[in-house]
Amino acid sequence: LDYRSIEFLTSAPTLTECPEDFGAEVAFAGRSNAGKSSAINALTGNNKLARTSKTPGRTQLINFFRISEQQRLVDLPGYGYAKVARSMKDEWQRHLATYLEKRGCLRGLVLLMDIRQPLKEFDLHMLTWAVEAGLPVHILLTKADKMKNGPASNTRFAVEKALKEQGLNRGVTLQTFSSTKKSGLDKLERRLNEWLAE
Ligand code: GTP
Ligand code: MG
Repeated sequence: LDYRSIEFLTSAPTLTECPEDFGAEVAFAGRSNAGKSSAINALTGNNKLARTSKTPGRTQLINFFRISEQQRLVDLPGYGYAKVARSMKDEWQRHLATYLEKRGCLRGLVLLMDIRQPLKEFDLHMLTWAVEAGLPVHILLTKADKMKNGPASNTRFAVEKALKEQGLNRGVTLQTFSSTKKSGLDKLERRLNEWLAE
């Protein structure tokens, strides 16, 4: 698949406003500031496609990007951002849950976690939900450029081990990733290709 020619399709505040549920879709999820929008930009080589920000909570809508007529990537709002009003947080989480449960064309979830603080409470919620729903997950340990290679791969092994111990490894793969250094892009593309292929 050609990720270079991805285009912004639309933003949806709720599930009813999402594009029609057909073809194949992969969603990028993770805590606020984990680097979801940056990862999508790195894939496309266009740093302006998905809006990124130093302020967590930048992405507040479900953003759809078109790869082809039948294939899309989805940038989900981040979760766990404390400074957003409680009521708004609840609302996002409700929309997020509805999207994940009801979206028939969803083929897989890319779950991003900052490599310096992996497996936070909400990451475990998402993983548990996905594993139980039989939805495959590809974990990106992001911002790997913030660590030396040794500690980064140690973290990857530790996360792998923790998932296995908690029975959360079925259909789950993981890798280290850096949007700024563009490292790990090949591996991510291979996984996306598997999911999005007809
Ligand atoms: P929300 O939309 O708020 O949920 O955040 P997000 O997950 O989309 O994060 P975003 O891509 O906006 O990135 C958040 C911050 O992290 C920005 O300042 C990015 O420049 C930075 N960032 C993202 N990826 C990387 C990375 O691989 N390495 C480094 N060093 N910084 C990164
Ligand atoms: Mg974002």
